[in-house]
Amino acid sequence: MDISKIRVALDGPSGAGKSTVAKILAEKMGYVYVDTGALYRTVGLYAMENGVAKDDERGIIALLESIDVRLTYENGEQHVLLCGCDVGGKIRTPEASMYASAVSKIPEVRAYLLDLQKKIAEKGGVVMDGRDIGTVIMPDAEIKVFMTATPEERARRRLKELIEKGENVTFDEVLADMIQRDKNDSERAAAPLKPADDAVMFINDGYDAEGSADYIIDLIRKKTNTQ
Ligand code: DC
Repeated sequence: MDISKIRVALDGPSGAGKSTVAKILAEKMGYVYVDTGALYRTVGLYAMENGVAKDDERGIIALLESIDVRLTYENGEQHVLLCGCDVGGKIRTPEASMYASAVSKIPEVRAYLLDLQKKIAEKGGVVMDGRDIGTVIMPDAEIKVFMTATPEERARRRLKELIEKGENVTFDEVLADMIQRDKNDSERAAAPLKPADDAVMFINDGYDAEGSADYIIDLIRKKTNTQ
């Protein structure tokens, strides 16, 4: 098996550190890192910029007629183009996150983004992070990891980030929010968050990002007999 063509599906809930780990992994292995959450965020941004409410499913579905989402890579970094313009940091605001979560529940939105993701996956040498990568986008990926951490650990990490940003929140509030989001994500009808049957479950409490990436590299080396 050619190690340079391996496809890594990295799924799990928010706050598990997927994007940081996927970036390190891609860099160390020379793979392309695909952040699929950015695609849902971009559809959400489009709805937001067009004044469509996030609970207006029909309005969002109608926008799919005119939207144009593309991915480009510059020096290994992903850029999402919305109707030709780089979305940059606009997809990372709290409002865009809420929109992303709302649009990701709509099956038509998921169907719209399917081909784009599958085409990138075909080439191999990729690490894709998301929620349904091992189950829907790359069901035949050589490596599937469902990476999570206990809600308490994810809440601790999130609290640290929020406090660094100067927000005034408590651990209990962040933890309650984390538990609620997990429930929403795993109970939604379209592509609920659940591990693929053949995914390796990796609970990364006690690992830093580098250690988590090394854990996955170890799986790749075992699979390709390159240890
Ligand atoms: O990973 P993220 O926070 O950037 O994801 C943004 C939203 O998109 C989040 O609500 C989950 C959703 N998402 C999804 O449904 N499927 C994916 N493959 C990736 C993200």
